[in-house]
Amino acid sequence: GLALLGGLISLFLLEIFRLNSIRSSCPPGPKPLPFVGNLPDFFRDRMAFVKLMPKYGEMCSIHLGKKQTIVLNSMQILKEAFVQNGAIFSGRPSVPLLHWIHRGKGIVMASYGHSWRQQRRFALHTLRDFGLGKKTVEERVAEEAHYLIKEMLKQEGKAFYPIHPIMNAVSNIICSIIFGDRFEYDDKRFAKLLEILNENVRFAGSTMEQIFNLLPIIKYFPGPHQKIRHHFEALKQFILEIVEEHKKTLDPDNPCDFTDAYLIQMTKEESKENTTFHLENMIKSVFDLFFAGTETTATTLRWGLIYMMDHPDVQERCHEEIIRVLGWDRSPCMEDRASLPYTYATVHEIQRYANVVPLSVVHETTEPTQLQGYHLPKGTMILPNLTAILADKEHWKYPDTFNPENFLDEKGQFCKNDFFLPFSLGPRVCLGENLARTELFIFFTSLLQRLKFSWPPGAPPANMDGLVGTVRSPFPFNTVCRSRETTH
Ligand code: HEM
Repeated sequence: GLALLGGLISLFLLEIFRLNSIRSSCPPGPKPLPFVGNLPDFFRDRMAFVKLMPKYGEMCSIHLGKKQTIVLNSMQILKEAFVQNGAIFSGRPSVPLLHWIHRGKGIVMASYGHSWRQQRRFALHTLRDFGLGKKTVEERVAEEAHYLIKEMLKQEGKAFYPIHPIMNAVSNIICSIIFGDRFEYDDKRFAKLLEILNENVRFAGSTMEQIFNLLPIIKYFPGPHQKIRHHFEALKQFILEIVEEHKKTLDPDNPCDFTDAYLIQMTKEESKENTTFHLENMIKSVFDLFFAGTETTATTLRWGLIYMMDHPDVQERCHEEIIRVLGWDRSPCMEDRASLPYTYATVHEIQRYANVVPLSVVHETTEPTQLQGYHLPKGTMILPNLTAILADKEHWKYPDTFNPENFLDEKGQFCKNDFFLPFSLGPRVCLGENLARTELFIFFTSLLQRLKFSWPPGAPPANMDGLVGTVRSPFPFNTVCRSRETTH
């Protein structure tokens, strides 16, 4: 008994010694607890924790479990790391959970190097080059917006939870690009997939995920992680079935979508020994585009509905501007941004205030380096604190409230702000930035052209922190929508 106690005390003292020696050589930060570091604070109230970080300076360190992580809190230091030293700061750590679920490399969590570069470049080109049959991406989004409005109007005047129609609409855009087709809103198989996606997103960044990453041995035991793995298998199966269908109809001279283009690329590179275009990477890339392309945009739109219900004056002003410029029937296109400055500013403000990826996606240094005089070993985890930039007190007129004036000048014209950084920056900058901007502008403008949203009578005030994992999403809420034609 005494020996055990002595052992435990020595272990504890060693841990205190380890923490002290790490802390003396790294940037300041909140004091870590032995063994668990700052994890308890990180999980208790993630947004409060993230907002506290800039108090320690432009660069601070936190301990998530045993691993020391650097948080970058200012634009200047983000540029120094991710732009000026892009190759060193653009790695991704190996996350035990992801490694266990799928070994494919893909794009989002692929380590910095040849495979990531090829897959990213290929995806960027195909996203840019693909019209959707005869339609442009803008037209496809406008068309999908009509389906969404029709779906929402089925519930006209009744309180309903808008998550499914919004997710369906948004994922239909990425599905059109990668699979060449959209899915009906009542498609049972697709509804199941979106539910899976939702559950996986809730798991990403949750306490359970962190526990798994600290103790990967729990993969041998039952628990929610088994379900997440099972989900990935279901998604993989779904993608494989679609790939098989594409193989049957493939015309090598006339690819219709990302899957076709990928199959053609695979054949082209068949004889190369170290090709990165193989089935495993294809499944992972498709999964990444589907996953990253749905959740962030759909979540931003849901926050947008909440802000519109909370600020009916903003909603009215947008609607009036849209009707003045487009009338009741013309669908918006990206060119209309110039003549819809208030609406365009509102879409930006929704993204700024929604701050859907508060700490972006974790990076890792690819070699030993220095930042602001601190030595960072290879493999140091780096978190870009996008929250600090999007609410920087010196660069926003209204950093802490929802106000489209943040993007308007005295004449009411749209004005850019370089601190608008929801997509991060550098070589890992969001690959879907253009697509996301198109989707947000056209979905939002179309919705406010035709519909009016309000809180159901007696609805409790929305919790503005939301549920924070990798993605910050609103808690479930109900809305009431009415057709503008009937309210006018
Ligand atoms: C990465 C934000 C929509 C695909 C990222 C990152 C952020 C982000 C912050 C991490 C960048 C970094 O590592 O520093 C957003 C937001 C969106 C959005 C706020 C919508 C409102 C999309 C869409 C797509 C997409 C529509 C689909 C094509 C990706 C991919 C990556 C990524 C593939 C990984 C890039 C890499 O590691 O090289 N996004 N995103 N995103 N995003 Fe987006």
